[in-house]
Amino acid sequence: MSTFPLTRLRRFRRTAGLRSLVRETRLSLDDFVYPLFVVPGEGVERPLEGLPGIAQRSVDRVCDEAEAAHRLGVAAVILFGIPEEKDEAGSGAYDDDGIVQRALRVLRERVPGLLLLTDVCLCEYTSHGHCGLVEGDEVLNDVSLELLAKTAASHAEAGADAVCPSDMMDGRVGAIRAALDGDGFDQLPIVAYSAKYASAFYGPFREAAESAPAFGDRRSYQLDAPNVREALRECELDLAEGADAIMVKPALPYLDVIRAARERFDAPLFAYNVSGEYGMIKAAAARGWLDERQAAVESLTAIKRAGADVIVSYWTRELAEWL
Ligand code: PBG
Repeated sequence: MSTFPLTRLRRFRRTAGLRSLVRETRLSLDDFVYPLFVVPGEGVERPLEGLPGIAQRSVDRVCDEAEAAHRLGVAAVILFGIPEEKDEAGSGAYDDDGIVQRALRVLRERVPGLLLLTDVCLCEYTSHGHCGLVEGDEVLNDVSLELLAKTAASHAEAGADAVCPSDMMDGRVGAIRAALDGDGFDQLPIVAYSAKYASAFYGPFREAAESAPAFGDRRSYQLDAPNVREALRECELDLAEGADAIMVKPALPYLDVIRAARERFDAPLFAYNVSGEYGMIKAAAARGWLDERQAAVESLTAIKRAGADVIVSYWTRELAEWL
């Protein structure tokens, strides 16, 4: 075994050029998805306090933002909708004239070439803020599936390039696959939020999506943080039900889950660098405690190094300017 002074690992660290030559992980804008929040109205652009740099926008403004981002090289967006009115059944989610459906139709036309992903969930549309139908204090599983499937099918109809169920009901991927196939969308991919944990890091998102649960929490359907084997079972089931890609969420506190999923499955692996992960760095940077750009790039690189193929991140647009 050769050792010092024969081996000197610092030789390849001496210059920026040498470091770049042997770099094992690189960030490419091709692998990023930019989240956008759509609200009713016109000319609306409401910046979010907990998500600096991100805003709720009406369809026209979402188009402007998507167009600008696409011009900078952003390849894909994921749409979240906040409806005019919420009700018990989340009917705005599967309304053919719903907020996301409208945004899809306009974006399709105004920004051709931009990939349009949609979040499929009921929590932004239900008055109680849960991801499925509620009876008493219970979130019902099987009866929610039909509504989630209808939501996905209406996104497909309106022009989505892929649908991303994030509700964590059992059996939803199968229900969505069947609905899509039944409507002639057998070519439309499903990106399943398979390993979605009940996490404190979604805090700022719930302000953005106005989706905080009115009672209780999401622990009866989202994964329990200490579990990794259970996360792999979720991925396995989703793939068996027809998911084309799987997702781990959040990302940074769950790098081990990303790594485990990468080693076990060959499907494309997404990771969601969630609102709280973004907010922590933004807040620390605003106080001058760390350099935002370096901390962001280091975090996103870590997510890729752990094994993610695609990253959903609120930094996507800024990254387009940095890279
Ligand atoms: C909806 C959904 C959530 C996020 C994405 N889709 C929130 C939740 O489950 O409460 C979180 C995203 C983020 O924090 O950036 N089900």
